[in-house]
Amino acid sequence: MNKNLINISELSKNDIDELIAFAEQFFDGDGGCKRENIFPDKTIANVFFEPSTRTKLSFEIAAKNLGCQTINFDIKNSSMKKGESVFETIDTVSLMGVDMFIIRSSEPILAELANMMPGVKFINAGEGTESHPTQTLTDFLTIKQTKDTLNNLKIVIVGDLDHSRVARSFLNGISNYEENEIVLTGHPDLCSNFINNDKYHYVENLDDALKDADIVMALRIQHERIQSSTEIDIDEYKALYQVNSERMELAKGDAILMHPGPVNMDIEVSESLYHSDKSVIRDQVSNGVAIRMAVLSRFLS
Ligand code: CP
Repeated sequence: MNKNLINISELSKNDIDELIAFAEQFFDGDGGCKRENIFPDKTIANVFFEPSTRTKLSFEIAAKNLGCQTINFDIKNSSMKKGESVFETIDTVSLMGVDMFIIRSSEPILAELANMMPGVKFINAGEGTESHPTQTLTDFLTIKQTKDTLNNLKIVIVGDLDHSRVARSFLNGISNYEENEIVLTGHPDLCSNFINNDKYHYVENLDDALKDADIVMALRIQHERIQSSTEIDIDEYKALYQVNSERMELAKGDAILMHPGPVNMDIEVSESLYHSDKSVIRDQVSNGVAIRMAVLSRFLS
C-alpha cells in the first residue's frame, strides 16, 4: 500500500477487501465503534477547503477512537486570509508536528502536496469532481453488509454524474470486481460526460434503468458546481429522476437505496423512501466511522 491515499485506483482489490474486513472489526456490536488507544502519539489535521459534515466528523471521531490527537484547521481565521497559499499553509502546519493531513479540496492539490512533503501522510477526503476514495470504501462496506458480495450485482447510479466525485471513485473501485452490470442514468444535462462514452452504459429513462437492480445509488444535484447556463427545472427533475417507493418497485424485491449525502430531500429521493427499510443511507453515514478507523490505522502504521 502507498504511504498516502489519494485515489481509489492506488488500492488493489486485495487492499480494498482487507480494509473492508478490517473496518468490520471496529464495530462494537451496539451500532457504534470501539475505542482503542492505539495511536496516542499521532496527530491528525483535518483541513477542509469545502464544506463537509459526514467526512469531516467521521474522520475526527475515527481518529479520536484510535487515540490520536486531532486538529480541525480553521481556514476562515487562518493566515490564508493574509495571502498565505494553500501549499505554504499545509507546509507551515506540518512543521508543528502533524503526522497526517486529511484534505478536502475543490482543486486537485493532493498529489502535489504529497510530492512536496514526503515526510507527511495525506488522505483524500474528497477532491474536485474526481476522487473520494473513503466514500467508495464506505459504500462498498455498506453493500457487503447487505448483499454479502461486490460481484454479480446490477448497480444503477442516478443523478448529477458530471459533478460527482463519489460516482467516479465508485466506478473506478467497482471495476476491480466481476460480473457487475453498471447502468448510469440521470438528466442528460447533468450526465454529459457519460452519454455516448464507450466506457459507460447510460440509459436516459430512469424506469428502464431500474429494472431488476440490486443497488440504486442516487446522487446529489451539486448546485454549487453547476454552471449558471445549465438550468434544471426541479419539478421536471422530480417527475423524471426522483427515486421514490413506486419506482423502487421496478428494482429487485431486496434492492437497496444508497446516497452519499447530503440528500436534497424530496428531490433526488422521496422522504418516505429515505426512511423506508430499503434505504441504507443512514448506514452509509455510520459505516463511515469504521472505514475511516481502518484507513487511519493502515496508513498510520
Ligand atoms: N458524502 C460526503 O462526502 O458528505 P459530506 O460532504 O457531508 O462530507
